[in-house]
Amino acid sequence: MFIQSDPLLADEAFAIECQVHEFPWTRAVFDSCNSQQYWRSVLILNDSIAGYVIAQPVADELTIMNVAVATVNQGQGYAKQLLQHLFARARQAQINTMWLEVRQSNTNAIMLYQSQGFVQVGRRRDYYPAGDTREDALIFRLDL
Ligand SMILES: CC(C)(COP(=O)(O)OP(=O)(O)OC[C@H]1O[C@@H](n2cnc3c(N)ncnc32)[C@H](O)[C@@H]1OP(=O)(O)O)[C@@H](O)C(=O)NCCC(=O)NCCS
Repeated sequence: MFIQSDPLLADEAFAIECQVHEFPWTRAVFDSCNSQQYWRSVLILNDSIAGYVIAQPVADELTIMNVAVATVNQGQGYAKQLLQHLFARARQAQINTMWLEVRQSNTNAIMLYQSQGFVQVGRRRDYYPAGDTREDALIFRLDL
C-alpha cells in the first residue's frame, strides 16, 4: 500500500466515485479536479486505486472536497490514512485550518471526520439534493 500525491484521476478513480457515492459527481466535475488548484492523494493497493481524497487549498486554509474508498476496501483504515497523509502535507504547506461539508445522513463519513479531530461548526439547511427532497450539510472544521 502506498499513497501518491497529485496523479491524474481517470476511469479507475471515477468508477469508485460512482460505486460509493449515492449522488456521485458528474464526470465533468470529477475531471475538473485534475488541475493545479487541487490536491489529490490516491491510495494504491496491489497496483490498483483503492481510494482518494481531493482537497482545495486557498491561502492558509484547505477544504476537503471528496473522500472515497472502494467498497471492498472500506473499514480497514484506508480513509484515515488518506486523511493523515493530507494533514502532513497541509502542515508542510503552512495550512492552519481545514474545512469540509458532509450530508447529515452520512454517518460513516461523520464518524471518520470526528475520529480525526474535526468539529462540527455549522449547518447549511437543505444544501444537498436528495432525490425529491433536500438534505442539510454539516460544516466541520479542524485547526491544525
Ligand atoms: C467514508 C469513507 C471514506 C470511510 O472510508 P474507510 O476506509 O472505510 O474508513 P476507515 O476504515 O479509515 O475508518 C476510519 C474511521 O471512520 C469511522 N468509520 C468509517 N466507516 C465506518 C462504519 N461503517 N461504521 C462506523 N464507523 C465508521 C470510524 O470512526 C473509523 O475509525 P475506527 O475504525 O478506528 O473506528 C467510506 O465509507 C466511503 O468511501 N464512503 C462513501 C463516500 C463518502 O461518503 N465520502 C465522504 C463524503 S465526501
